[in-house]
Amino acid sequence: MPVCVVIGAQWGDEGKGAMVDLLAKEADIVVRFQGGANAGHTIIYQERPLALHLIPAGIAHDHTICVIGNGVVVDPQALLNEMEQLRSVGLVVSPERLKISDRAHLTLPYHRILDAAREMAGSHLRLGTTRRGVGPTYVDKVDRVGLRVGDLRYPNRLEEKLLINWEQKRAFFNALPPEERPDFHAVLDELMRYAEFLQPYIADTVSWLNEQVAAGKRVLLEGAQGTGLDVDFGTYPFVTSSNTTAGGAATGSGIPPTKINAVLGIAKAYTTRVGEGPFPTELQGEEQVALREKGREYGATTGRPRRCGWFDAVLVRYAAMVNGFTALALTKLDVLSYFPEVKLCVAYRWRGEVLTHFPSEVCVLEEAEPIYETLPGWDVPLGQCRSWDQLPANAQRFVERLQEVVGVPIATISVGPEREAVFSLPNAPSLW
Ligand code: IMP
Repeated sequence: MPVCVVIGAQWGDEGKGAMVDLLAKEADIVVRFQGGANAGHTIIYQERPLALHLIPAGIAHDHTICVIGNGVVVDPQALLNEMEQLRSVGLVVSPERLKISDRAHLTLPYHRILDAAREMAGSHLRLGTTRRGVGPTYVDKVDRVGLRVGDLRYPNRLEEKLLINWEQKRAFFNALPPEERPDFHAVLDELMRYAEFLQPYIADTVSWLNEQVAAGKRVLLEGAQGTGLDVDFGTYPFVTSSNTTAGGAATGSGIPPTKINAVLGIAKAYTTRVGEGPFPTELQGEEQVALREKGREYGATTGRPRRCGWFDAVLVRYAAMVNGFTALALTKLDVLSYFPEVKLCVAYRWRGEVLTHFPSEVCVLEEAEPIYETLPGWDVPLGQCRSWDQLPANAQRFVERLQEVVGVPIATISVGPEREAVFSLPNAPSLW
């Protein structure tokens, strides 16, 4: 049963794209199963960074078939832009190589307006969303008024469904200044145009994927965002609107949990977060700036500077528990070079108590103070290391201690963005 899930162990931006790109060499199929155009997965293609938002990171390998699963929310305009961008660098994006689930929900042009309006409304909690309309699309899905990719195949039904969705938002539209108010017929026409383009890519991916699994094909399920942003397990309400954890891989692809045999967690050697929400190990001032600049920590989708801090083992241990990680990939270890000391947060202190479990309440996390273990740093660059033996002793010690406090075997380490800068550890558990 060669089905493997790749999950972010922190708050997203752990380097999942690069890892999936690498693993895709050995995969037949790569599937995105949740999220939407809010994701930003960067891979290096022809020596240049290429940011993917909706299309799985496996697309850079000619032999892989990519699937946008039923759990994803698809913004057709963002998808078409991305297809164009990939074609412009010489990649083939054909219906043979990309299948879009007929059950995936559509992000409509006005979902972005709703997302932005919610963020700007003074009475609402500001979440710092990517404003890609992802939250409002999932709201419509759960409210059972959403439009699905498969609806693009039936124009008459599409109009009826759009009308139901539209009516529900009429009061909101009427409150907008006239020049910002969307027009029903313009939206319908836009959807009809997308229908023409996307028709050949639409498929019953649930049945197709299960046939491929039964035939023994290697399937990689590519998570977006990270465990801390999961709508159930993350720092609610400062989360995204989908299940970013391993359970979401089953519901978002239609591949049953009993067919999944490995879950690889991806964790950065430190922690970052974009948008609002608690972050116990966040650094302040110059220390934060130093880590951000060294790690080039700016959002791939929005360009926002990421908040940065030390590695939080409480969070990653929790991620290992809820996802059932069978192994961990540790990324961007090279960024920690030249810090005189490196730190691991092993527990939190909260109102005199020591917490070793990740709390469910934001108000507890906001007050939680990290309890650190401090280890000696290393003052050599790691970018050229290509094996465990080539790492300086203090870097090895940091990795070994991190593995101990998280309790999951580390299979892989990355020390740079290129494919060659990722290497396996001696006795690493095999993924497939
Ligand atoms: P939304 O997913 O756009 O609704 O944003 C909700 C929260 O998730 C915000 O804090 C975003 O910054 C965060 N978020 C969404 N997508 C990503 C991602 O791909 N990487 C990191 N953070 C993300």
